[in-house]
Amino acid sequence: MPRPVRSEPCSATALPDAAWLRRIRRRLLAWFRRHARDLPWRHTRDPYAVWVSEIMLQQTQVASVIGYYARFLQAFPNIADLAAADEQQVLRQWEGLGYYRRARQMHQAARVIVERHGGQFPRDPETIRGLPGIGRYTAGAIASIAWDASEPILEANTIRLYSRLLAYRDDPARSEGQRTLWTFAAQLLPRQDCGAFNQALMELGSEICTPRNPQCPHCPVQQLCPTHAAGLQDEIPLPSKRTVYEELLEAALVVRRNDCVLLRCCGPGERWAGMWDFPRFPIRRPRGKAFVAEAVRQTAELTGQRVALGEHLTTIKHGVTRYRITLVCHEARWIDGPPDRDDLRWVEPSHLDQIPLNVTSRKISRILS
Ligand code: ADE
Repeated sequence: MPRPVRSEPCSATALPDAAWLRRIRRRLLAWFRRHARDLPWRHTRDPYAVWVSEIMLQQTQVASVIGYYARFLQAFPNIADLAAADEQQVLRQWEGLGYYRRARQMHQAARVIVERHGGQFPRDPETIRGLPGIGRYTAGAIASIAWDASEPILEANTIRLYSRLLAYRDDPARSEGQRTLWTFAAQLLPRQDCGAFNQALMELGSEICTPRNPQCPHCPVQQLCPTHAAGLQDEIPLPSKRTVYEELLEAALVVRRNDCVLLRCCGPGERWAGMWDFPRFPIRRPRGKAFVAEAVRQTAELTGQRVALGEHLTTIKHGVTRYRITLVCHEARWIDGPPDRDDLRWVEPSHLDQIPLNVTSRKISRILS
């Protein structure tokens, strides 16, 4: 029989009990040694590879990241290769992962590292945090995993885990909650093995201490958890605000001129900045005369090109952040329009695979070829 142990760490404001912290560290590291998933980025301590994995894992599931991680490192094996690449090549490798700003900022950061740090990934957490796209969490994850630096982490999985270990009943997303949880994360860190420890925390949060139906019987720190003791797993952490979805109706046109189709590069501030798209715009109606007039007018406004609308090609339903979009796709024939705009390209359908497209444009491109 295991010895009964205290499950009250402390109140969120008092200092955690030192013996309780020691037990958590010991049990968590032992559990991780036995149960860690074999993930590709766990075989390296190269800060560049760790950085790539951590950026990809932001807002993206592990299963989706695995293939992208391998292909990205094959295309850009080190910081110098990434810095020397064209942004379009980087976006092409990122295509389908979403949140393309992450890729553009990584590319910018690689150039900063080459220009200001001689191509060596900086070791100092403050310097790491100064790079584009790297915040406190990512800097802590890279420094701890690559060099075992004593840096705490706080991301979605660990917010939930720490909230439960502290029985923290307020909103962890508010600044008071963030302060409390960052402080706790720092107190939890062991004297060594901080990289493995931080990964163990994320692993426990993602595999056992899940938002719904946490697997408490399999949790190595179940007996130390005040939320489990009180049966409050469904109340802690306080649920975050529910996303309110908005329905949007949009149209995309495959404008043909000789053997080519028209693509437009999304500008800064647009949904897919830096990626290419078939001309696309919001509409009020999905069919009828009013739709035809609106589509022709909007294409002219967006691209400067005069077109005649053709057959309906397909309708795609998809989600982007908080939008649920119905995209009506039509063929169109080019009539005339000014040539040479940097944000427009006429491309043969067989060459579309070389260009970074958003997911719906890639779907449309597959219908064309
Ligand atoms: N989520 C964010 N970083 C992670 C990591 N290193 N391992 C597993 N999941 C993660």
